[in-house]
Amino acid sequence: MTKLNMIYEGKAKQLYTTEDDTKLIIHYKDDATAFNGVKKASIEHKGELNNAITTLIFKQLIQAGIPTHYIETLNERDQLCHKVDIIPLEVIVRNIIAGSMAKRLAILEGTVAPRPIYELCYKNDDLGDPLINEDHALALNVVREDELAEIKRLTLRINEELKKLFDTINIKLVDFKLEFGKLPDGTIVLADEISPDTCRLWDKDTNQKLDKDRFRRDLGQVEDAYQEILKRLKEHYA
Ligand code: TMP
Repeated sequence: MTKLNMIYEGKAKQLYTTEDDTKLIIHYKDDATAFNGVKKASIEHKGELNNAITTLIFKQLIQAGIPTHYIETLNERDQLCHKVDIIPLEVIVRNIIAGSMAKRLAILEGTVAPRPIYELCYKNDDLGDPLINEDHALALNVVREDELAEIKRLTLRINEELKKLFDTINIKLVDFKLEFGKLPDGTIVLADEISPDTCRLWDKDTNQKLDKDRFRRDLGQVEDAYQEILKRLKEHYA
């Protein structure tokens, strides 16, 4: 399968049509942004690292019975995926409080949540991806009630799978963001990526941050952190 026309360019990825109009190629770039695009940089090899990390994680989730858009990884930067209608929601789970929740509610970063915290944001750059609830999502007309229930069910299952996976590689899964899409037959599937761009991952022994917070907070060694996550995942699957 080869790339034909670029139909979308996001902050970290590009989407291309293919000869099959039900399938798209996702191309992973090295570009990184934070704070709704205000901070920009290129992180060497990030595209390859996130493609490889997302591939291993999606394969694990597929094995666990989670429906996803993923078909196959074509090369170091490209994945073949089912074409879906992306639901414009960012679905966040927090196991440990950090980032925007720590700030908004003045809770100490690192506080363990009493149970997984489920959040929705409206994916809309002009509005700065605001935090919303399920009633807001219905009022926005971007999703139906039964679809919201399915998204929540899948998300909590994904959290359990990912917590187990990261635990085995000595990482705490602090929080993460998911996106879902709809296949032409209406099936809700996990889409987008799962990588250090979209998760907070802390080493279990040292609490060292091995994710995009190294870029957001100017902590340095961003590429090394992504390399470390890929190395541990590869060792786990070896
Ligand atoms: P937050 O604490 O900034 O709300 O982020 C929660 C999680 O969502 C964290 O793992 C990073 C991820 N995330 C994205 O994937 N994309 C985004 O645009 C933002 C703001 C966060």
